Amino acid sequence: MQDQLYLRIPGPTPVPPRVLRALAQPMVGHRDPLMDERVARITARLKPLFGTQGKVFLLAGSGTLAMETLLVNLTAPGDEVLVVTNGNFGERFAAIARDHKRNVHTLSFPPGVPTDPEAFRGALAAHPNLRAVIVTHCETSTSLLNPVRELAAIVREVRPEALVLVDGVSSIAGVEMAMDAWGIDGVATGSQKALMSPPGLAIVALGPRALEAMRAVDGPRFYADLRRYEDSLAKNTTPFTPAVSLLFALDEALNLIEEEGYEGVFARHRLMRDMTRAGIRALGLPLLVEDDAYASPTVTAVDVEALGPKRVLATLREHFSVVFASGQGNLTPRIVRIGHMGYVSPSDVLHYLAAFEVTLELLGHPVRRGAAVAAAAEVYTAWATASSSPTR
Ligand SMILES: Cc1ncc(COP(=O)(O)O)c(C=O)c1O
Repeated sequence: MQDQLYLRIPGPTPVPPRVLRALAQPMVGHRDPLMDERVARITARLKPLFGTQGKVFLLAGSGTLAMETLLVNLTAPGDEVLVVTNGNFGERFAAIARDHKRNVHTLSFPPGVPTDPEAFRGALAAHPNLRAVIVTHCETSTSLLNPVRELAAIVREVRPEALVLVDGVSSIAGVEMAMDAWGIDGVATGSQKALMSPPGLAIVALGPRALEAMRAVDGPRFYADLRRYEDSLAKNTTPFTPAVSLLFALDEALNLIEEEGYEGVFARHRLMRDMTRAGIRALGLPLLVEDDAYASPTVTAVDVEALGPKRVLATLREHFSVVFASGQGNLTPRIVRIGHMGYVSPSDVLHYLAAFEVTLELLGHPVRRGAAVAAAAEVYTAWATASSSPTR
């Protein structure tokens, strides 16, 4: 039955029924007072998810536009930037910076390997004129969670004048972010991941230092010029026609997040990660990110090279309508990625692990029936007995 797909990819993610209903509201003009109220409410309510007293800007576009917007507003052509790359999305940020004629230095790590703080410190020391340092929080292509808090502290110590910019596309609203407290100046995200909304909103948060820098940067930008968005935000509006229906959706998704509570949301994501990893280990498959301390709460990459990722994905979809994501670039022949962010629950984890287990059996991988679910159940029961709060 292909009518219902169980979308377990790292974006776009499933959209909750309440958010779908919000999407269907009649159109409102973007200069209507009803819309002003909504823009004010959404931007105020996004701030705690970024952990900033600064400002949050809404653009119509995807996460990549949010990344580009950070870059063009906080650096100028010719500026030196250091981009840490642990996979595809770090490389994308470096490519954006190169296209915009920044002087790009990269510090690269192999897939699944977290940024080494000492190597990072060394790269900062080697480049005294850095304008910005760019890090990916959750590297979705490998399911690595970078220690951005620790890395930002090193920048503040070694290069206090450099701005710290973070790609938070697959972490914001699934993983804690405390921009102001951690010394992070700008974060980019999108609507279609842990924010449980359809694709199409690029969201950029700037802390106080970044706001000052943005006003002063002299470099070409028009649609992405945050000075225009800042002027408009003072009147609770946007400079250009926003994605009105997506703002309806995001407003309702924020209601859901607030009802669950930020801590509840983050705890649920950690729980889903831990259940998933326990299940995969019980199946005898290697995890791309070996160290639990750097495993993302929002996505898990599993090494299925021996079975062939294409066959795994096709069988899982054909028999169970469960959709995992393929790997990207060089990792395509090696991994599949399981998205567990946004509108996904521990009950969904038990479901996809059971389906995955049968899929492996169908493909001839030796499994002990029920092993993955049993391991995940153990994680869940330990968590549930230690905590009295329901997850959803
Ligand atoms: C970490 C990260 N950065 C950037 C992007 C790009 O976002 P978009 O496809 O919305 O442009 C993605 C999307 O998967 C992502 O996961």
